[in-house]
Amino acid sequence: MKSASRTGNAYVAILAGGSGTRMGNPDKPKQFLMLGSKPILVHTVEKFCVSGEFDAVLVLCPETWVQQTKDLLAKYSPHYAQEVTVIAGGATRNDTVTNAVSFIEDSFPVDDDTVLVTHDAVRPFVTHRIIADNLEAARTYGACDTVIPATDTIVESVDAATISSIPNRRDLYQGQTPQSFNLLKLKGLMGSLSEEEKELLTDACKVFVLRGEKVSLVMGEPDNIKITYPQDMRLASALVGA
Ligand code: CTP
Repeated sequence: MKSASRTGNAYVAILAGGSGTRMGNPDKPKQFLMLGSKPILVHTVEKFCVSGEFDAVLVLCPETWVQQTKDLLAKYSPHYAQEVTVIAGGATRNDTVTNAVSFIEDSFPVDDDTVLVTHDAVRPFVTHRIIADNLEAARTYGACDTVIPATDTIVESVDAATISSIPNRRDLYQGQTPQSFNLLKLKGLMGSLSEEEKELLTDACKVFVLRGEKVSLVMGEPDNIKITYPQDMRLASALVGA
C-alpha cells in the first residue's frame, strides 16, 4: 500500500479479462497458467503491490473466474491478497478498462489529480522503474504509453499483398504496458466515443491521440514481454529461471 506521505490518488487496474485464444488453452486463460512457482497473474499483481505506490490494486478477470482469482491470490500471495480487489472485466479490453474506471469512481476517492495505471496481466516482467516513470508521466502529461524502440523495420501493407509504405524506423516504437492516465480525462474521452469509434479504437492511448491529446512516452524494457503464444511461455520460464 501507498505510504501516507505521497499526494494524489493512484490506482492500478490489472487487465486479466481476456480468454487467451492465441495460447490455445481454452479451459484456462493464459494469465492463470503457472510460471515457475506461481500463476502469471500473481507475479504481475505482486510487482504493483511491492511498489507501494497505489491506493488500491484492482484485478479485472473473466466473470466466471472471480472467485478462483481470489483463491489463487490467497494461496500464492497470502501477504498481498488482502490488498487486492478482484472484479469482472468486460467483453473487450477497452470494456475492461471502462469497468475499472466505473468501479474506482464508485468505490474510492477520485479527484482531478487521480491517476489510473492500466497493465496487461500477462506482462509479469514490468519493473519498479517503469511503474514509477508511468506515475510521474501520467501526473505531468495526463497520459502516457510504455514503449521500446522498434528493432525490426516495420513494413505497412494495406492490401496484405504488397507494401504500401515503409515508415522510418527511427520514428517507430513497439507499444507495451502500462498505459497510464489522468482518470477523469480517460473517463471523459472514453465516454465520448460513438459505437463505431469503439470498434476501431481498441487502445486507450489511441483514443487520446485521435482526440488531439498528448500522450507521453515512457521507456519500457525488452524483457517486459506480453505472453501471447506458447513460445512466449518458454521465454518467460527462462526469465524466471524455471
Ligand atoms: N484483456 C482484458 N479484457 C478483455 C480482453 C483482454 O482484460 N476483454 C486483457 C488480457 O487478459 C491480457 C491483456 O488484456 O492481460 C492483453 O490482451 P491479449 O494478450 O490480447 O489477451 P487475450 O485477449 O486474452 O488473448 P487472445 O487475443 O489470444 O485471446
